[in-house]
Amino acid sequence: MAIVIDGNKIAQDIRNEVRQSVLNFKMEKGFVPGLAVILVGDDHASKIYVGKKKQDCAEVGFLSREYKLSAETSEEKLVSIIRELNNDKLIHGILVQLPVPKHIRPDNIIEAIDPHKDVDGFHPYNVGRLVAGRPCHPSCTPYGIMELFDRSGIELSGKEAVVVGRSNIVGKPMSFMLLSRNATVTICHTKTKDLAAVTRRADILVAAAGRAQMIKGDMVKDGVVVVDVGTNRLDDGKLVGDVDFAAVSEKASYITPVPGGVGPMTRAILLKNTLNAALAY
Ligand code: GUN
Repeated sequence: MAIVIDGNKIAQDIRNEVRQSVLNFKMEKGFVPGLAVILVGDDHASKIYVGKKKQDCAEVGFLSREYKLSAETSEEKLVSIIRELNNDKLIHGILVQLPVPKHIRPDNIIEAIDPHKDVDGFHPYNVGRLVAGRPCHPSCTPYGIMELFDRSGIELSGKEAVVVGRSNIVGKPMSFMLLSRNATVTICHTKTKDLAAVTRRADILVAAAGRAQMIKGDMVKDGVVVVDVGTNRLDDGKLVGDVDFAAVSEKASYITPVPGGVGPMTRAILLKNTLNAALAY
């Protein structure tokens, strides 16, 4: 039976560390790190995420500013708000909650953010520096997963790592982070011919495809470390990951649950990135 990695506990440890750093920061500099979160439209899930980010900021002692814009907000208007925040001395991190309404091109929004305030790590400047192994704001979810490995004592060097999913937000940056730690990395995607043959080779398996319970028990080998990035809502309302937890946990050495695995880590790393942005200011 696998050890279940407790993302809520590790995220709480990180928030405690950030809160302590904020106390020191405030004593030295006389102000606190500031995060601006922009929500465009009224997507229900996004509203919940934004509310939680605000709560996280309060817990660690950040200044937080929330912008709730109507779904009709133009791309120009959104960019002009971002430009103001780029020049705002009290704000060190800017996050535009995705997805944005269809008439707004997300790439234009991401590229309007000052890369030093891009605490999501989505700007091509940060992506490029991540790939080059240079200091940057790393994308929050894959960086959170690296923290789960490190804080659980999981060795990566020389391991076969398989990442299922090639999104800009998770799959691609995850692969480069694993590579930078000397794992041998394979990226699988919808056109991969024999997915199970590849996933069965994995010592480390990161499932980030966005398809409910697609990683079955017969697709992994004994002792695999499994990280489940999926959050899929079944017809009966149940939240499940990309991994068939019951079957895969029989064979894995470590596994992350859904909920309570990767999800809380993404938000904790956002705080860490914002603190780092303020420290570098
Ligand atoms: N929507 C879902 N996850 C994220 C995230 O990590 N950052 C932003 N900006 N939007 C999201």
